[in-house]
Amino acid sequence: MKELTPKKIVRELDKYIVGQTPAKKSVAIALRNRWRRQQIDKPLREEISPNNIILIGSTGVGKTEISRRLATLVNAPFVKVEASKFTEVGYVGRDVESMIRDLVEVSVKQEKSEREKTVLDQARINADERILENLFPKSDTSVMSEEAIERQERTRDKLRKRLLAGDYENRIIKIETKSSAMPLMQVMGPIGMDDITGNIQDMLSNVMPKQNKSQRLKVEEAREVFIKEEAEKLIDMDDVIKVAVQRAEQNGIIFLDEIDKIAGAENSGGPDVSREGVQRDILPIVEGCTVSTKYGQLKTDHVLFIAAGAFHVSKPSDLIPELQGRFPIRVEMNNLSKADFVKILTKPKNALITQYMALLKAEQVELTFLKDAINEIAAIATELNEKMENIGARRLHTVMTSLLEDILFQLPDKKITVMKLDKKMVQEKLSDISDDEDLRRYIL
Ligand SMILES: Nc1ncnc2c1ncn2[C@@H]1O[C@H](COP(=O)(O)OP(=O)(O)OP(=O)(O)O)[C@@H](O)[C@H]1O
Ligand SMILES: [Mg+2]
Repeated sequence: MKELTPKKIVRELDKYIVGQTPAKKSVAIALRNRWRRQQIDKPLREEISPNNIILIGSTGVGKTEISRRLATLVNAPFVKVEASKFTEVGYVGRDVESMIRDLVEVSVKQEKSEREKTVLDQARINADERILENLFPKSDTSVMSEEAIERQERTRDKLRKRLLAGDYENRIIKIETKSSAMPLMQVMGPIGMDDITGNIQDMLSNVMPKQNKSQRLKVEEAREVFIKEEAEKLIDMDDVIKVAVQRAEQNGIIFLDEIDKIAGAENSGGPDVSREGVQRDILPIVEGCTVSTKYGQLKTDHVLFIAAGAFHVSKPSDLIPELQGRFPIRVEMNNLSKADFVKILTKPKNALITQYMALLKAEQVELTFLKDAINEIAAIATELNEKMENIGARRLHTVMTSLLEDILFQLPDKKITVMKLDKKMVQEKLSDISDDEDLRRYIL
């Protein structure tokens, strides 16, 4: 995190997301401020609260994408939840505290897999020793002469060398693996109580006797099983949990998507649960409270919240004032222009054009897009967004699928090895959808 300066974060996000610089900057600053806070001494540090952010922008301009990339970028526990999924306590749906429980869960997994990496070498050594013992069991040393013990060690060294050289990979050995009887049993709890149900399941699986199952496996397969078991033995789970809870408290990020769906005037009637009620439930969590999870208590004071919403119908000011106050930073995201579309098609590491080129490559076809073809695709997408609903960059996906549908269906074909798309071909292929008013209605 120390090296992850705001500029660096923005640069990394730039690799995947076109434009939207203000939004990128705000999230970068918020993240860095957390690190800065951790450098401060105790009494003052506890006073500094996170800069929670609301990203405001129409659909398909990159709100979720920014958060997704952020998650992989910063090595922090991160969960993304749809605010609309929550309902007031007691109703069908998930209670808001589940997002904190999810966060700890993610944190524990992260911490554990990081430690697994550090013990992997040792685990591999231990696993090979077990295989060796399995292939060539040692004789009881207590009844052996010193000389015999030495001889056994020497033979063993030789065998170990051959094992490591891969001489026994295809031998079949019999191993015992532990398996609990649990997977067969599903615990059904009351709806909305998914976490409790999970807890019951955990409890039961601890109580149930672990069954030993013997399996016949090739050495190379058995090694994988042993490495996993040995790694588990080398990790101190209590410590993992302790550190993971701290990490979630200090570095956790929760992305609250679709926050606009819980803002605004009450839906009159219907089974819809009160939106304001959900906001009131969320409030203490954002404000800072203690949530009990199966890994212990977790304080939410310093968890960073990034909320996002299109706010077409409602406005951020329709949120209850207390909640608004907890999201001091608001960033508006721009609608995407034709020039942006050209960049989105070509620039990001995972650009659509690159994706389709790779897909066709699998069929031994070299696909190229001439510059004017890309321009035309961007122009058509912009036009469709204006004439119909504006769905942002998602339009590019629909345009590209329509454009390439025939080709994708036709392949593989031995006669086709190169494919160059120019402006005219794009126009021809897409004339159906840009001309025909009726047809257009069906493509999103
Ligand atoms: N600025 C951008 N740069 C690159 N790709 C983008 C950009 N904006 C959107 N996309 C692409 O468009 C698709 C939809 O974007 P995303 O999921 O971020 O939309 P959103 O803003 O969260 O919309 P919604 O409000 O509907 O959830 C993704 O595949 C994403 O890669
Ligand atoms: Mg989204």
